[in-house]
Amino acid sequence: MNATVRRAAFVALGCLSLAAGAREIDPESGFVIDKNWEEVKATCTACHSSKLVIAQRGSRATWKGIIRWMQATQGLWQFEPEMEDRILTYLATNYPPGKDYRRKPLSPLLMPPQ
Ligand code: HEC
Repeated sequence: MNATVRRAAFVALGCLSLAAGAREIDPESGFVIDKNWEEVKATCTACHSSKLVIAQRGSRATWKGIIRWMQATQGLWQFEPEMEDRILTYLATNYPPGKDYRRKPLSPLLMPPQ
C-alpha cells in the first residue's frame, strides 16, 4: 500500500469507529479516553479504585453532589473552579444517567425530608 491509500484507509476506519460510537478505554483504569481524562484519572483514583467512579452514572448535578459529599465527609480537597468544571464535564459526558446505572435512584418516599 502506498502512503495515500494507507491514509485513506486510516481515515475511513476512523469514521467507521466514530459512527459505531466506539469509545476508547484506558486499559489500566477503565476510564473512557476523552478530553481531560488523564486529569480525572489522576484526581479520582488518589483514594479509591477507578471502578467506584466508572460504576456510577449521573447528570452534572449528580456528579457535583458526589464531589461535594466527598469534600464534606471523605476528606476530598477543594478544586480550582476551572478544574472542577473540566472534571464535571468529563464525568457528565462520559458517565451520564442511563440504563446501565448500577441501581435505580431511591424513591422520593425513601429520601429524608427536605
Ligand atoms: C480524598 C479522597 C478521595 C478522592 C480524591 C476522591 N474520592 Fe471518591 N470517595 C472517597 C471515599 C472515602 C469514598 C467512599 C468509599 C467507600 O464507600 O468505600 C468515595 C466514594 C466515591 C463514589 C461512590 C459514591 C457512592 O454513592 O457510593 C464515587 C462515585 C466517587 N467516590 C467518585 C469520585 C470522583 C469522580 C472523584 C474525582 C473527582 C473522586 N471520587 C475522588 C474519597 C475520595
